[in-house]
Formats: sequence, structure tokens, C-alpha cells
Amino acid sequence: MSLKEKINPAKLPQHIAIIMDGNGRWAKQQGEQRIFGHENGVKSVRESVEAAAELGVKYLTLYAFSTENWNRPKEEVMALMQLLVHTISAETATLNKNNIRLQAIGDLKSLPSDCYNELQEAIDKTKTNTRTTLVLALSYSSRWEIINAMKEIAEKIQNNTLSPSEITEQTINAHLCTAEIPEPELMIRTSGEHRISNFLLWQLAYAELYFTDKLWPDFRKEDLYEAILDYQNRERRFGKTSEQLIS
Ligand code: IPE
Ligand code: IPE
Ligand code: MG
Repeated sequence: MSLKEKINPAKLPQHIAIIMDGNGRWAKQQGEQRIFGHENGVKSVRESVEAAAELGVKYLTLYAFSTENWNRPKEEVMALMQLLVHTISAETATLNKNNIRLQAIGDLKSLPSDCYNELQEAIDKTKTNTRTTLVLALSYSSRWEIINAMKEIAEKIQNNTLSPSEITEQTINAHLCTAEIPEPELMIRTSGEHRISNFLLWQLAYAELYFTDKLWPDFRKEDLYEAILDYQNRERRFGKTSEQLIS
């Protein structure tokens, strides 16, 4: 039986989030510049999106560029932005062919204008697609997102459209970039790093975390299947006891 066939469709995560890490180390191993690793990571993005769509995963969020990544050398940041523009424009037709909707979360206004425009165009051209939603986290960090949410909520309180006692989890959810997106059940990080790096801190509260040593440019469909199978073998207790779940 193939790995794919072992996946139980009834227990499929609705939303998978991935920290795509290890491009620089992958390039170094080949004796190449870091950007070579980013370029080769595009194939892994394609494979993951395709695999998620084929399986019926409804949301796939990919952490492509963090707020902190702006602190990298200028040449790397510029090369990454160019790669992003090219990839988005080159892949829009494929997204449409595969009925995949593109969305983005993060401080999108901080992106270079060509990148921002290309992104908005692709989002617009794919907005009626229904099979899977691909969410790119770009210039994203969770603390940035939470600060924004706090500001919006504070303004509502100041305008008397909300009172502090009315604040619930739903209030916070509604003010995050992911307001329309369900919480990820599974978060994958490649490259052997065991940290969250400011990614979806609120939304990952009860996600299952999966770490693999594979560097992102080596990540293939089979690796996604393995992560999903691992997830399906876990017991998600949400604070309860094992016995409570059985009865
Ligand atoms: C992930 O790979 C891609 C981005 C953060 C944009 P890295 O570039 O972080 O690769 P390593 O971690 O240095 O190997
Ligand atoms: C996290 O990777 C951000 C993305 C994958 C876009 P980094 O490689 O930037 O994370 P740290 O700094 O090593 O934690
Ligand atoms: Mg890294």
C-alpha cells in the first residue's frame, strides 16, 4: 500500500501550515548561493500544493517570508521578492487550472509595489476557485498580526462599538488576518529546527506539530503524506483524558 493510500480521508486535516525552512543550507550543501536554494524551493511549493489539493485538504498556509526576514542581506531580500513576483505570475494559470484559490496574510503593503500588484492580481484571478485555498504568509509575523488586532479592538472600544466585557476568543479571531480561515490542525517545519519563529502563535494553540530534518527544496509529496499519517496516529485530547475520548 502506498503512503497516500494509507491516509484516512475521514481524518484529514482541513488546514495544514508549513514553515518552509532550510533553503540556504540546501544551497550551501551544493556549493551554491542561498538564492539557489530559494529557487529550488519553488518545486517543493508546487508539490505540496498539488498534494494537498489532490487529497482534499481545504487550506494550505505556507510561511514564505517573515517580518524578521527583512533583516537579511539586502541582495537576498531583493532576490526573494523577484522570485516571488515571477513565481506568482507564472503559476496563476496552474492555480486556475487546478481550481486553487490564492490568498495572502501579512503586512502586504510593505512588499515592493511590483510584488504587491502581482499578488493582488493573482488573488483576484483565482478568487472564485473552490478546491483548496493556498495562503501565502508574506511579510508576516504573529506578533505584528496580534498588535494590529489589538489596535482595531481598542479603536472599537474607544468608539463605544464594543465593550471590554464583550471580548471573547471570537473577537480576537475576527481581527486576525486569518479571520475567514479555520485553525491549522497540523503544522510542519522542515530543516530540523524545532521552533515556531513568530508563525500563527494564536492559531496554532492546539495544532499538532511535526518536524522533519528534510531541507525544504527536498520536500516532496511523499513527505507531506508522511506528516499527515503521523498526525492521524496522534490522539488529540484538547485537555481531556484519553478515557473521555473513547467513551
Ligand atoms: C527558508 O529557508 C526560506 C525563507 C526564510 C525565506 P532559509 O533561507 O531560512 O534557509 P536556512 O534556514 O538558512 O537554511
Ligand atoms: C522562518 O524561517 C520564516 C520562513 C520560513 C519564511 P527562518 O529561517 O527565517 O527562521 P529562524 O530565524 O531561523 O527562526
Ligand atoms: Mg531558515
